[in-house]
Amino acid sequence: MTTDKTPVDNLTEEEAAAELAFLAAEIARHDALYHGQDAPEISDAGYDALKRRNDAIEARFPQLIRADSPSIRVGAAPLATFAPITHSRPMLSLDNAFSDADVRDFVASVYRFLGNIAEGEIAFTAEPKIDGLSMSIRYEGGRLVNAATRGDGTTGENVTENIRTIAEIPDRLPAGAPDIVEVRGEVYMRKSDFLALNAQMAAEGRQTYVNPRNTAAGSLRQLDAKVTASRRLKFFAYAWGEMSAMPADTQMGMVEAFKGWGFPVNPLMKRLSSVDDIIAHYAEIGLKRPDLDYEIDGVVYKVDRLDLQARLGFRSRSPRWATAHKFPAEQAFTHVEKIDIQVGRTGALTPVARLTPVTVGGVVVTNATLHNADYIAGIGNSGERIRDEGHDIRVGDTVIVQRAGDVIPQVLDVVMEKRPAEAVPYEFPQTCPVCGSHAVRERNEKTGKLDSVTRCTGGFVCRAQAVEHLKHFVSRNAFDIEGLGTKQIQFFFESEDPSLSIRTAPDIFTLKRRQEASLARLENIDGFGKVSVTKLYDAIDNRRSVALHRFIYALGIRHAGETTAKLLARSYGSYAAFAAAMEAAADPGSEAWAELNAIDGIGQVVAQAIVDFYAEENNRAVVARLLQEVTPLDAQAPAAASSPVAGKTVVFTGTLEKMTRDEAKAMAERLGAKVAGSVSKKTDLLVAGPGAGSKLEKARDLGIETVDEDGWFVLVGAEGMSGPGAPAPSPDDA
Ligand code: IVH
Repeated sequence: MTTDKTPVDNLTEEEAAAELAFLAAEIARHDALYHGQDAPEISDAGYDALKRRNDAIEARFPQLIRADSPSIRVGAAPLATFAPITHSRPMLSLDNAFSDADVRDFVASVYRFLGNIAEGEIAFTAEPKIDGLSMSIRYEGGRLVNAATRGDGTTGENVTENIRTIAEIPDRLPAGAPDIVEVRGEVYMRKSDFLALNAQMAAEGRQTYVNPRNTAAGSLRQLDAKVTASRRLKFFAYAWGEMSAMPADTQMGMVEAFKGWGFPVNPLMKRLSSVDDIIAHYAEIGLKRPDLDYEIDGVVYKVDRLDLQARLGFRSRSPRWATAHKFPAEQAFTHVEKIDIQVGRTGALTPVARLTPVTVGGVVVTNATLHNADYIAGIGNSGERIRDEGHDIRVGDTVIVQRAGDVIPQVLDVVMEKRPAEAVPYEFPQTCPVCGSHAVRERNEKTGKLDSVTRCTGGFVCRAQAVEHLKHFVSRNAFDIEGLGTKQIQFFFESEDPSLSIRTAPDIFTLKRRQEASLARLENIDGFGKVSVTKLYDAIDNRRSVALHRFIYALGIRHAGETTAKLLARSYGSYAAFAAAMEAAADPGSEAWAELNAIDGIGQVVAQAIVDFYAEENNRAVVARLLQEVTPLDAQAPAAASSPVAGKTVVFTGTLEKMTRDEAKAMAERLGAKVAGSVSKKTDLLVAGPGAGSKLEKARDLGIETVDEDGWFVLVGAEGMSGPGAPAPSPDDA
């Protein structure tokens, strides 16, 4: 028997096998003492050391991993499915920067938002962006209690048992760690493990995996945690969720604390203060990239001081204090076999290149978007030539395609030397390939320029538009109805059976009733079983009440994306108030039109599109039918409902000295207020700094409460200042 003093690298295979057997028995004995008899013989650190030793030996001799290995710590029976876990704080994504200029913009935006901070005074951390899956791991009283995937950012999947099999994630935290700790980070698979796994799969004649990231995701979502265990996943800690106490007041300090608690942290993380240093570090990490045993797809920059992070806060899905600087996309040569036209929800005709399959950065690419007619012809959005010389794209061309992250692959350039003699310029269709209606390019009234998008004029007549509408309606950020994927929607849409057909959104909610009264049962149709039909009905019924912003977003109003829908929900509070206001706003002289335009973040194009939507009889009829089936829930004032400005409409004007305008706006919103850009009867409070002019006068005329900046701080008190790691962005869901 060797002692644990022998470095793992010096062990022979026999010695390793013997020690693994010893460790399996020893760790099992300590587990029993600890869990069963509550009478541990060794310290937590001693226990962790045994586990780490076991892991290190297994890493060097994977062929020796025992069936009873302590690294395979399995819960009871395999789970039936993964239960949902609602995150204590949302798990956000990051904004992207693709160039040095984008990085400079990011840094400048941080300075601009905070105001009054001398250049070079804000430090940033820079660390690799790991290409894995993000995970939130919760400890209570020092013990790992659960672990969840990111999911949609609000709710993830409970993968606790699988996470417990990852040896380098501590099961217990050292004494002194806060009572509640949520460590967040990336689970990933090493490149070498991925290659070894694929070699093994190939040798066994089984399907190989696409890339380490997908394999890691697949390995984690195994109902049998033993499979997860055998995949030897890894982890880097870089963020946190709920914490009952903060061990540090900087990003760097937090990561150091995680390290002290036994979590792996990335060794390439650095703290830097100038943009030039940040960009130099990016280049350095880029050079190391090929030699790292894990995939990275960029470098993440974060404002180091947590009090500044709290002031900067969040946009709807990402923090203002961080960005991901992506590495350039990967490229490959292939051929354009044909060009197809897809028709979108708003009738936009989008050309798609069908390519000879080619591997780009480990992923097989078969399609690339060609955006619009101009793009194919070699003309950019502002009329400039694209692809260097403005070459057009033709069927038969050899092209360079590139892929960056999860975005749709792009055709970067055409290899002119390889263009076949018979290749002809692509003729963009003038009719919709689905419904045959005219397809037109609208002219922008203001600029007189042709719109780049060619649009089908078929509207409700066009099946493609109707199907895309339905897909949008059930999509994740809209009604989020599981079990209604593209295939199912297509099936229901095409069905001629009145008890099965779904042509518009309200039909989704009458499906079950129609089915109950009919003989053609869904469960007897190929592709639907009894269980999936029950699940589908449940998923539909679960959405009979839905958050107001989801309802508005689901309507698919042109230009009204998720952010707009949230603004509208907050501003109008209830669907009835919103719809009444939109109908009244059809009169451009109305108060309703002025109010819609006064909402900060809603411009004229968006406002007009919403009003146009409600002016259309057909749309109102569909919404009316929908409202017979579905109840949009009133929007609640977010965050501190108790704050003195919750639910109030606030306007800022004049010069602000203690905060920038953006910061003021973010603070007001965090406290549940609505921020408007102009003063109207609906304004509750005007915050006026020096130099305030017409808005102040109007507020006085209307008798609206007015305070200066100091008065604002007195009013909102300490609540305006959120503590480190603080605020969850606006509560998303009902
Ligand atoms: S910070 C609030 N740091 O990138 C921001 N994310 O695009 C929390 N990721 O969902 C994320 N490496 O899965 C952060 N060093 C790193 C990261 C990282 C990879 C992933 C993470 C996140 C996604 C955002």
